[in-house]
Amino acid sequence: MGQSNHSTKVILNNQNFESILFERINKNIRNISLKKDLIDEPINYSLSNPGKRVRPILAYLTADAVELDLQKIDSVATAIEVMHTYSLVHDDLPCMDNDSLRRGKPTLHIKYNESSAVLAGDALQSLAILLIAEDKYLDTSEKITLIKSLCETVGHNGMILGQYLDLKFEDTDPSNTEIIEMYGLKTSLLIEFSIISPLIICNKLNDDWKDLARYIGISFQLIDDLIDVTQPTEIIGKTASKDIESKKKTLPLTEGIEKSQKIIEEYKLRAFEKLHILDLNNHPLKKYVDDLFRRVN
Ligand code: IPE
Ligand code: IPE
Ligand code: MG
Ligand code: MG
Ligand code: MG
Repeated sequence: MGQSNHSTKVILNNQNFESILFERINKNIRNISLKKDLIDEPINYSLSNPGKRVRPILAYLTADAVELDLQKIDSVATAIEVMHTYSLVHDDLPCMDNDSLRRGKPTLHIKYNESSAVLAGDALQSLAILLIAEDKYLDTSEKITLIKSLCETVGHNGMILGQYLDLKFEDTDPSNTEIIEMYGLKTSLLIEFSIISPLIICNKLNDDWKDLARYIGISFQLIDDLIDVTQPTEIIGKTASKDIESKKKTLPLTEGIEKSQKIIEEYKLRAFEKLHILDLNNHPLKKYVDDLFRRVN
């Protein structure tokens, strides 16, 4: 059921996939050669405290779904998590969201200092690109395509623009459409890239996959915003009810919890429709997407 055999002997099924992938991701992160001192110390701090690893898990599950050898996306999956980690380190800075808790631990600038957090974030960004550039399973043209797409995803027309708008909206009154566009940029694009990158490699990207990636990405931020107002600090590992304090414009704050839950439910139905069209009803990707819609942290 939903199994595919790879030369790496990884067989993912609904029971085992999460532990296998979590271990694979953490091993790849541990293998990044960093020293223990100087700026490498805060970089290690940010990478070694695992979050949910949602983006690389999505990349591996998508690869599995289209029977792409998982080795082909090891470096991309690791690069995506490294890029995501950078975005969190900078997102938490006093000039951004000013957060002191991340994944249940002090944020980087609290544990070390602000300049170390800025520099560690900068270094994580170039490290992510380097991981793909140095990969031994991708050919040169695959690397260039992936690096270009990742740079577009996180750059001035992508994640950074989303982060800019997120901060700007603290002092303005955006429409729901503008809020969802901001979600698309700051969060969805990198999640979409996680799903799209294995499909680029094996030339299987189509509109159904693109739509599925979009529904997962947008709803991920919407659920994050819902969790901010509904779950306690101990569960989310971040300071609860921080968005209202920062005057963030999130749908749960502008439209209320009930309406947001309805919108999330609509995204879930649309995502499930796409999974059905893609013939993935029995694949672990479906179970994982279902779990993402139920998450509380
Ligand atoms: C948090 O992302 C930031 C958002 C884009 C909502 P995650 O919820 O994936 O954070 P970690 O990696 O599990 O800590
Ligand atoms: C973060 O969104 C998006 C990026 C880091 C690009 P949030 O600011 O809502 O994420 P949390 O709640 O701090 O994890
Ligand atoms: Mg933010
Ligand atoms: Mg934040
Ligand atoms: Mg948030």
